[in-house]
Amino acid sequence: MKHIFAKKTLAQLNDEMKKDDRMNRVIDKWGLTSLGVGAIIGTGIFVLTGVAAHDKAGPALMLSFVVAGIACIFAALCYAEFAAMAPVAGSAYTYAYATLGEIFAWIIGWDLVLEYAVGASTVAHGWSHYFQDFIGIFGLAIPKVLSNAPFDYNPETGVLGATGTWLDLPALIITGLITIVLVRGIKESTRFNNVMVLVKLAVVAFVIIVGSFYIKWENYSNFAPFGYGGITFFGWGGTPTGMLAGASTIFFAYIGFDSVSTHSEEAKNPQKDVPFGIITSLIVCTLLYIAVAAVLTGMVPYDKINVDAPVSDAFRQVGLPWAQFLISLGALTGITSVLLVMMLSQPRVLLAMARDGLLPPSFFGAVHPRFRTPWKSTILTGICVGIMGALLPLRILAELVNIGTLLAFVIVCAAVLIMRRTNPDAPRPFRAPLVPLTPILGILTCTMLMFSLPAENWARLIIWLGIGFAIYFSYGVRHSHLAHPELAGGNELQ
Ligand code: ALA
Repeated sequence: MKHIFAKKTLAQLNDEMKKDDRMNRVIDKWGLTSLGVGAIIGTGIFVLTGVAAHDKAGPALMLSFVVAGIACIFAALCYAEFAAMAPVAGSAYTYAYATLGEIFAWIIGWDLVLEYAVGASTVAHGWSHYFQDFIGIFGLAIPKVLSNAPFDYNPETGVLGATGTWLDLPALIITGLITIVLVRGIKESTRFNNVMVLVKLAVVAFVIIVGSFYIKWENYSNFAPFGYGGITFFGWGGTPTGMLAGASTIFFAYIGFDSVSTHSEEAKNPQKDVPFGIITSLIVCTLLYIAVAAVLTGMVPYDKINVDAPVSDAFRQVGLPWAQFLISLGALTGITSVLLVMMLSQPRVLLAMARDGLLPPSFFGAVHPRFRTPWKSTILTGICVGIMGALLPLRILAELVNIGTLLAFVIVCAAVLIMRRTNPDAPRPFRAPLVPLTPILGILTCTMLMFSLPAENWARLIIWLGIGFAIYFSYGVRHSHLAHPELAGGNELQ
């Protein structure tokens, strides 16, 4: 049992990098930044801003974006330090293996499944909302029974109820298409991503510039109708509302910058380019988000904001239906690129875990001989994302992803603190500034956001981690290469 706390050394990580079964190094710093922006701007800003403004924060939503953005900047600086020290696939999972030990690495790896696979299902749902909004402009609609998850949670009554539908078919179809693109390979995927990122940046710029002409200052007069708070402790304090509760809801909008670090192995110059990609993409998105929130809540009174497709609907409400067309199209494109990056990142984390023996290497470690992609786990990811996206409600998925990702950020910040003590002299091509202040503030702000989510998410997180432990103790602990070096040779990749 002792070895569950075993750690990898930095030398081991760097040795692993030298093996020749690694992936192609094809992505430069702008490619990484584009992957970051591609992963960030999506369902969060185009869909969840609606619920957050309408039910949680009102116009104070712009401050919610400031708070969540600050929490992410602290975490991003910590991610960047690690990504530069150990540029191997696996991201936070690998960092935890090197600092906190195997069991924590497993926890975070399993937690990253929440972030990427469950996150992708959430995003697929958001895609479906905008798809339906878009075809609705032409008077088209898909049959109601195929338009949404079969049940949803009513935040007012707290009860799960049937929606009268069977499944969300558009979510299922888009997931299938992305899976095919991903199995074919990273080069094609990043090119595809770059185009989509340009389109969505253009649409976000359009929203900010054109929308600002329609701001009515009186819409800001009741600036924080739900107050500025939102912290509750395991249900004590009721359902969280207020600016902080808004921040924990739209936290989802920031998720994705960390996925840049899962591409370290494919980066041309990972030590410099990965920190650049992480921090640049996050700063760009933070500024855009604050502006979009200000415009949206200025254009439409907060209680009139649509909760399904808020941004395009705001333009309809001010009498610009043609803009609704443009924005729906841009949102669809933007959300597609988020889905692409999340589904690209998930198999890479699983690959890293398989290389360490914590998951079956013959499946999760298999790299396609021609496409050089982790194709088997990409297909498995596609199937799981498709099923969850088709059947589970957006709200529940989004909150679960938020709490899981916040936990991952807390662990990464803690890992930086520990690594500075245990390996003070290790080469750090990028150093997070003001350590220990930066990681400590990262831990505090992310924990504060975890406590600003509805309390049932803690229970869901604990159940999720329980399932993870069951897998670890029935498989990983017995096959870990660190504990059983004899298992490590020869069987890694097919
Ligand atoms: N940040 C991503 C989104 O908003 C996950 O869709």
